[in-house]
Amino acid sequence: MYVNPRRVRRCQFMQIFATCFILCLMIFWGPLDDSSIVGHVKSYSYRYLINSYAFVNESLSVSRDSMDRITSYQYLINHQEKCHQKDILLLLFVKSSPENRYRRDAIRQTWGNEKYVSSYLNANIKTLFALGQLKDFEHRENMQKRLQMEDDKYGDLIQQDFTDTFHNLTIKLLLQFSWVNKYCPHAKFIMSADDDIFIHMPNLVAYLQSLAQIGVQDLWIGRVHRGSPPVRDKTSKYYVPYEMYPWPAYPDYTAGAAYVISSDVAAKVYVASQTLNTSLYIDDVFMGLCANKMGVVPQYHNFFSGEGKAPYHPCIYNKMMTSHGHVEDLRYLWKQATDPKVENISSGFFGRMYCKIVNIMLLCRIHYEDTYPCTAALF
Ligand SMILES: *[C@@H]1O[C@H](CO)[C@@H](O)[C@H](O)[C@H]1NC(C)=O
Ligand SMILES: *[C@@H]1O[C@H](CO)[C@@H](O)[C@H](O)[C@H]1NC(C)=O
Ligand SMILES: *[C@@H]1O[C@H](CO)[C@@H](O)[C@H](O)[C@H]1NC(C)=O
Ligand SMILES: *[C@@H]1O[C@H](CO)[C@@H](O)[C@H](O)[C@H]1NC(C)=O
Repeated sequence: MYVNPRRVRRCQFMQIFATCFILCLMIFWGPLDDSSIVGHVKSYSYRYLINSYAFVNESLSVSRDSMDRITSYQYLINHQEKCHQKDILLLLFVKSSPENRYRRDAIRQTWGNEKYVSSYLNANIKTLFALGQLKDFEHRENMQKRLQMEDDKYGDLIQQDFTDTFHNLTIKLLLQFSWVNKYCPHAKFIMSADDDIFIHMPNLVAYLQSLAQIGVQDLWIGRVHRGSPPVRDKTSKYYVPYEMYPWPAYPDYTAGAAYVISSDVAAKVYVASQTLNTSLYIDDVFMGLCANKMGVVPQYHNFFSGEGKAPYHPCIYNKMMTSHGHVEDLRYLWKQATDPKVENISSGFFGRMYCKIVNIMLLCRIHYEDTYPCTAALF
């Protein structure tokens, strides 16, 4: 039988190609078990092919009668007057926990400082720490006294009477959205951030001011997770059972570490949050479900980090918005990043060239770190 040699070659080529492709997948995703490979292939197909979450259906909605839960948590500490001022650029929620006093103090002295922002950046921001109650029942009363004293001093805590745990984060999200809806609907932008994050406030404020000028709407910006599959491994912190979420991918959402929305999005998400089952305790995924229901799509910003910690370098500070995992080094980084000399390093032709090369070296390593993407260095 005659076989066309070109045919054979093409056939071999396809085999080699397929083998390489699979090897690449394995190298990129490391030592994964079968089910997670399937999960990732699925999630990639959602990311790039399907990209529609019409399958997320009414089974996540709840009836009106079971709606009492929203009002069932009472405020223990509140500041209804916080937003009385008319012109507010940014309402900043920091998700904190009762015992994290040290972190709150650091934030008050650095990026969360309202006075700094109004006198140096000429903008009004309002910072609030969102809290639940201490988990440990024995020390709860004592902690409550200390929180009250802290709040008497700074007036920036809001607290409801749910237990402050990882699995109650969605309740904390509801606290934030109902607070905005009730007491601060006129803030132009709303941000939600963890208490171990660094925010480059001068960069962020300049960016938001430029957006406010063009009257931006439908804004939801951060580090976007596209088509992430739910974790089905029971030992994981993020485990979600099929009964809670039966579908193979979540709608797109931004990492809960830090994201910004415009006030119209806050209003929409609030409305949706009133109709969805809140048992899904991963707060950023829950937010994604609310937004998906209202047709709001998140946008990727290169300089919002997800889980990652940005490299320390003056060439990064000019553009950075957020970076994750800063506690002990927060004050140091704030001082470095807002030093007026920083801007000069990347100014002029040689400065720009220098910083481009440094950024490529910092961000385009093969070794994968979840900080800013390589494209952030290139453009
Ligand atoms: C919702 O989706 C699930 C899983 O795909 C399906 O079993 C269920 O019948 C759907 N429910 C409605 C009300 O469409
Ligand atoms: C969430 O808070 C409520 C109210 O305090 C509490 O009953 C519940 O156990 C908490 N849930 C988790 C998972 O911690
Ligand atoms: C919410 O979903 C959970 C399953 O994750 C279910 O057990 C619960 O009954 C649902 N709640 C409402 C009010 O429908
Ligand atoms: C930065 O550069 C400008 C001119 O290029 C100069 O006037 C200014 O003093 C410099 N600032 C610092 C802090 O070096």
